[in-house]
Amino acid sequence: MKIKPCSSLKGEIMVPGDKSISHRCIMFASLAKGISTIHHFLNGADCLATIQCFTQLGISIEEKEDTIYISGKGLYGLQESTKTLDCQNSGTTMRLLSGILSAQPFSSTLDGDSSIRKRPMNRIAEPLSLMGAHFQWKTQENFAPFKLSGTKLQAIEYTSPVASAQVKSAVLLAGLYAQGQTKVIEPELSRNHTEILLRSFGAEVVSDGCTHTIMPEPNLVARDIFVPGDISSAAYFIAAGLLSQNAQIYLQNVGINPSRDGILKVCKQMGANIQIFNEHQNDEPTADLLITPCSHLTACTIDRRLIPSLIDELPIIAVIACFAEGTTIIKDASELKVKESNRIHTVVKGLSDMGADIQETEDGMIIHGGKPLHCACIDSKGDHRIAMSFSIAALFAEGESEILNSECVNVSYPHFYSDLFSLIN
Ligand code: S3P
Repeated sequence: MKIKPCSSLKGEIMVPGDKSISHRCIMFASLAKGISTIHHFLNGADCLATIQCFTQLGISIEEKEDTIYISGKGLYGLQESTKTLDCQNSGTTMRLLSGILSAQPFSSTLDGDSSIRKRPMNRIAEPLSLMGAHFQWKTQENFAPFKLSGTKLQAIEYTSPVASAQVKSAVLLAGLYAQGQTKVIEPELSRNHTEILLRSFGAEVVSDGCTHTIMPEPNLVARDIFVPGDISSAAYFIAAGLLSQNAQIYLQNVGINPSRDGILKVCKQMGANIQIFNEHQNDEPTADLLITPCSHLTACTIDRRLIPSLIDELPIIAVIACFAEGTTIIKDASELKVKESNRIHTVVKGLSDMGADIQETEDGMIIHGGKPLHCACIDSKGDHRIAMSFSIAALFAEGESEILNSECVNVSYPHFYSDLFSLIN
């Protein structure tokens, strides 16, 4: 994709449904009894991989544009898949599904693309094995592909070394089937969509700060859900609006769950005034956001207290920081190294190639803002968040940039470029 500079952006966008919530809707509705209807579902490649896996596990799922009908069969309704479950590029699919499959009376084989085969699975295999699950690694220990033999599980109290919603969710989902109460303690609160949604389907999940307890064998009941817009997708337009000279971007129905809204907090800290309208709450808090330019952004420091609430937004926050006055420090973010690409490296390399004054550190990056960016050819390495972040950076750089492998935006935002170009024309 080739992108020329543009500093005037106007329009209204309804970003696609939240990726994390869309995955969970498929999974939990499959384990509930009855037909659930999911509105504003994200039809991105990651969530379609989750649909494909549950279809192979015997669940009937019908798609009509962004509305999905799932005929759930209850906690014990899944059937063995004779074929490998292909999680493609999706860590959420592989890790959460493993929690569920650990407890099934059958074995499953899970695999994915070349990126997911490099992402650590010991973070879920350790707690799930403590509960009784049996992982058999096919090529390399702790990495996909692997065979998972389900069994009767024992409850555990697990203190997770990482603030990861995927780890927390895998253990809580296994806890649906375990003997006794399962408890997960995380170092900082990670996104809490599993707790909120499971509760709404009828599970008993109690959260007290960073400690979450689940009771086994709930009666999950089908329901209708409206998925809020994904704040991680909205983030690209937030950045575009703030960095432009002349912008008015209205983003409808964006999820603003406090465990996900770190980008709003950071933008405010940097001096931006993002206006919030129509705040309302169904399962999740949602609002419209009005983004206008911020002529004077200032640097900030982002550390472990905020990292889990903006982990996927750090690439685009790094882009914003290039235009802020002063030195932005991102630390305690080594989780970025195990995302779809090593995002510390891909962000620092790409922004350096565009002329930014940026350094890689062991657990983040340091950005000295204020140096103008120039065009470059950026390899997204097939990482959707890198492709979208650098597309926005290119709007504010001198000359025409090129983003390689930009079709990977399909993972979380299939019509990203048409939405972006609708603001320009
Ligand atoms: C996700 C959790 C986060 C996030 C990922 C989606 C989820 O990963 O980066 O894009 O849906 O639970 P971690 O749990 O590994 O932090």
